[in-house]
Amino acid sequence: MKKIHVTTHANLALIKYWGKRNEALMLPCTSSFGISLTALKTTTTMFACHSDNDSIELEGNNNPSLHIPIHKFLDETRALFGINTAFSIISKNHFPTASGLASSASGFAALALGVNSVCRLGLSMQEISVLARRGSGSAARSIHGGFVLWHRGENPDGYDSFAESMFNADWWPDLRVIIAVTTTQEKKISSRVGATASKETSPLFPAWLERSKDRLPKIIEAVRDRNFHTMGQLAEADWADMRDVMINTKPTLNYWTNVSWAVVNKIISLREKSSLAAYITTDAGPHVKVLCLASNAPRVAQELRKIPGVLSVLESCVASEPIIEEET
Ligand code: PMV
Repeated sequence: MKKIHVTTHANLALIKYWGKRNEALMLPCTSSFGISLTALKTTTTMFACHSDNDSIELEGNNNPSLHIPIHKFLDETRALFGINTAFSIISKNHFPTASGLASSASGFAALALGVNSVCRLGLSMQEISVLARRGSGSAARSIHGGFVLWHRGENPDGYDSFAESMFNADWWPDLRVIIAVTTTQEKKISSRVGATASKETSPLFPAWLERSKDRLPKIIEAVRDRNFHTMGQLAEADWADMRDVMINTKPTLNYWTNVSWAVVNKIISLREKSSLAAYITTDAGPHVKVLCLASNAPRVAQELRKIPGVLSVLESCVASEPIIEEET
């Protein structure tokens, strides 16, 4: 029986994906752009098995509610490609799961890459991205390392909504993301539910879509030029817009805690008072991710460790492409 080991990384959006134009196919309202992070690694082992049911083990967090979207993804994949075997899957996130650290992105990217190898489907990276997207939108980006653009696409069938690598991991070796981990709890409102509510009820949603479209080519150019300040300002502005969209959702989406705001305020104050070059982004969870260059990483990490309530601080570089290994 062929066993496949896949290593993927979560992909942190600098230009965010929040809201779908088609819920069933996970088609986004916006294109998004992100970086793959070494600190947020998922390792998945899978093989086809002679059983009626899939066997899923999520090491470190085997909450049965986390299995539901995985079963759905595997059923859809079997239907799409005419696969008639069950799978045995053991997956481990080397970071807190389902609390806004994009565990679903690296997890479903690993499954899409894994199914392609186990079943010898021979899919292109574009097709694997389209498949991963069916599990979790941001997983479309996580099938690559480096700096990744996920195209919104226009077609109703979604085959033009896939991610591609714009720059590989060693394009910007000095870039760092310092993550302040503020909880090990799962988030109360999933991004799936939250994003739909934002699209339907937040009066700020349409204006954010327009601004996001405008920022996208600018941030790609900033990365091309390795212009840290422009990249950081654009990423922070896009986060601030997404945050305001979330806060103005009815009922309000509050993914942050007092500890999150303490981290945000600390970085802003260091930037204002001591010209520290660091920018903030968060996702649908209370952790705060700080963009900086390698020379400032120890200082940023030290400052974050001093904040009461910060549980741990992860230092990340841009991660390389996923690794797929076959065990015979
Ligand atoms: O892939 P999902 O459905 O978990 O959504 C992720 C959404 C954000 O993390 C908030 C933004 C992004 O583009 O990753």
